[in-house]
Amino acid sequence: MKHHQKKRPPTAKNDDRSQLSRRNFLRMGIGALSALALLEVGGASLLFMKPRSLEGEFGGLVKAGPVDSFPSGSVVEFPDGRFFLVRSLEGGFLAVYRRCTHLGCSVNWEPDQNRFFCPCHASSFDLHGDVENPPAPRALDTFPVQITDGQVIVDTGRAQSRDTFTQEQLVYA
Ligand code: FES
Repeated sequence: MKHHQKKRPPTAKNDDRSQLSRRNFLRMGIGALSALALLEVGGASLLFMKPRSLEGEFGGLVKAGPVDSFPSGSVVEFPDGRFFLVRSLEGGFLAVYRRCTHLGCSVNWEPDQNRFFCPCHASSFDLHGDVENPPAPRALDTFPVQITDGQVIVDTGRAQSRDTFTQEQLVYA
């Protein structure tokens, strides 16, 4: 006698389990997608916050220090901010970009000569960044200076070009 083995239809229990696992799988998929989305949002906010991370570095706001720490007639270099903070004899501030206006080499401050000097083609500039000797075609660029709560802050994200120095460029506390 032939035994017909009837295939048993899946029990409700089995069916539930497979549905459950499908559901779990879907849930996991959704979970993974949400995690990805979160990562993306996180990444986007990191990108969004990037300008803040430039604080103190070139391209961002640099806190130079308290007004009183810069005597009149002084020049202080901020290598990371790529500028020199000049305090004129009258007490006004000027942030001078170190990039030579000839072909972009970095100028040095020479205190004994009271000048900025470019080692590439020997341009020189006075205390305010005005050209003393060509080939530089114009004064060194500057960065906006603001004084907040007695602190000198320089915005190295906005280089300002100028032909020559004028008194209005000085910022007073
Ligand atoms: S790059 Fe400064 S003088 Fe030429």
